Amino acid sequence: MADQDSLEQLYADFANLNMEGGWHRRFPALWPEPRRNFLPHVWHYAQVKPILDRAGQLVDTTQAERRNLTMFNPVEGNIYSTVRTIVAAYQMIRPGEVARSHRHTPNALRLILEGRGTYTVVDGTQVEMRPGDVLLTPSMAWHSHANGGTEDCYWMDFLDVPLVHLLEPMFYEPHPDGIEANPSSVETAPIAFRWEDTCAQLDAQQARTGANQAVSVKLGPAQLSSIALSMHRIPAGAATELQRTTANSIFAVVRGSGCSEIDGESHTWGFGDTIAVPAWRPFRHLADESAVILEVSDAPVLEAFGWLRQQKS
Ligand SMILES: [Fe+2]
Repeated sequence: MADQDSLEQLYADFANLNMEGGWHRRFPALWPEPRRNFLPHVWHYAQVKPILDRAGQLVDTTQAERRNLTMFNPVEGNIYSTVRTIVAAYQMIRPGEVARSHRHTPNALRLILEGRGTYTVVDGTQVEMRPGDVLLTPSMAWHSHANGGTEDCYWMDFLDVPLVHLLEPMFYEPHPDGIEANPSSVETAPIAFRWEDTCAQLDAQQARTGANQAVSVKLGPAQLSSIALSMHRIPAGAATELQRTTANSIFAVVRGSGCSEIDGESHTWGFGDTIAVPAWRPFRHLADESAVILEVSDAPVLEAFGWLRQQKS
């Protein structure tokens, strides 16, 4: 007589074929709204800077050509991503140091915090980097940087590397000559958003809306296919609108101090701090002293697939 069939046997048989029955998944595949997989979190530059300085003493450029500290979201199992699709890092470069040219599929950008005398070379164009500037290195653009000044220079990097990890199209190569020869030095470039220009745009926006309202400008036209950039100014005592979005965002404090209410919890911040706001967490920013914050968001990715939802209340 044939063996009696059973559900147990059925499950074992399809598991042996690397298959799962949709009616008895161990983990659901669909759920009603975005999960809280990543956590809101703030990294404080005042705590990071002394560590960067110590790294500057202990770790030279033969060990770490790019002396950076990545911020990993404190969610179990994660040791890299700041939010699902983007990683942020602090970086410090000392006078005389050079990071050779390379290129990669991930998009990247930098926000300069402190120090003068550094420059970056992006696809043959050399641009000085000054505090408050945002500089882009789009996918597959050659890029190097060097500190030709007398001050240590500190900045923040943002890259869509976690998104590239998820989708797999990672390519990376060092420049065959080490650094690009004979770059042309320019003051303005499509990849450079100067602090003075950003302030002028925020001033113009502020003149239209009134002195007590939060205003924002987009840094564009967009050069990075996966990342949207906005600069927000929040006057002292003002706040941004309470909102939530399916986009994942990282905010960096360029000026001022205040706090962010994220999912009902308050997180204080000041100059140079980094604020992770994962998708679908209601949030707003409030300034104690007039603040400017950079928003780095994966909204273009969500938008490309028709998945961008934003709610303001
Ligand atoms: Fe790079």
